[in-house]
Amino acid sequence: MTGPTASAPAPTSTPTPILEVRDLSKHFGGVAAVDHCSFTVARGTVTGLIGPNGSGKTTVFNLVTGHLAADAGQILLDGRPVTRPDPARLHRRGLCRTFQQPRIFPDLTVLENLAVAAGHPWQALAGPRVRRADRDRGEALLAEFALAAHSAHRADELSYGQRKLLEFAALLMSSPALVLLDEPTAGVNPTMVRTMERHIRERHAAGTTFLVVEHDMNLLMRLCDPVIVLDRGAVIAQGAPGAVQTDRQVLDAYLGS
Ligand SMILES: Nc1ncnc2c1ncn2[C@@H]1O[C@H](COP(=O)(O)OP(=O)(O)OP(=O)(O)O)[C@@H](O)[C@H]1O
Ligand SMILES: [Mg+2]
Repeated sequence: MTGPTASAPAPTSTPTPILEVRDLSKHFGGVAAVDHCSFTVARGTVTGLIGPNGSGKTTVFNLVTGHLAADAGQILLDGRPVTRPDPARLHRRGLCRTFQQPRIFPDLTVLENLAVAAGHPWQALAGPRVRRADRDRGEALLAEFALAAHSAHRADELSYGQRKLLEFAALLMSSPALVLLDEPTAGVNPTMVRTMERHIRERHAAGTTFLVVEHDMNLLMRLCDPVIVLDRGAVIAQGAPGAVQTDRQVLDAYLGS
């Protein structure tokens, strides 16, 4: 015998969520953008976050990723409180995001943007410090997102939709545990939406958890389960996409009553 036999731990309680938001609030002047908002994201899910315009979705992302400081409330990653959320530190803990308005490095080339995302200084792109595998991966992603012809162009020469694709491709250069996508398909053509969807599915199958703000209801219904619904900064419904879609309160929120 070589050692003790591993015995599976008894499933005594629900697993710790990868992300938990407790009673989170954020005001801008008199506007309660996020208002006592609480929800959890279970590990291994593609969770949807929806709600009417101005319901607080992006603000929640900004609070969770440390781009804004909350007025009140708690954020827990893997059950551990995030006391002073800081984007760089959270990134090192495996939390990645995209922005509603894509953020890329405008002065770098398209390929250099991917090198940076893989953790390399962009100057090292041509040198031995950038692993061949990363370079190959970057070039393969650019080909898939129809950006290969722009590889050596400055990123600020890309169209809005192409910037969104580049930001998304950059995310795929690392292996984050939790990815927050803020309207990944807005302004992106239908073929590329399919490509993005396939990549999300592949990453999900490989173990990445997603929290996705998405206005394309068809995509949302195909991709996300559960779905969390915000209205005026608070959660008003959550559950399977089909159930949420027919929820009275959700319909009222979208109709603006
Ligand atoms: N930096 C800011 N300064 C002032 N008010 C803000 C700021 N950011 C957001 N708000 C306000 O907070 C509320 C929530 O905005 P937020 O952008 O989080 O909504 P959203 O659900 O992402 O909307 P959308 O679907 O349009 O992207 C809105 O009333 C918005 O005008
Ligand atoms: Mg938004």
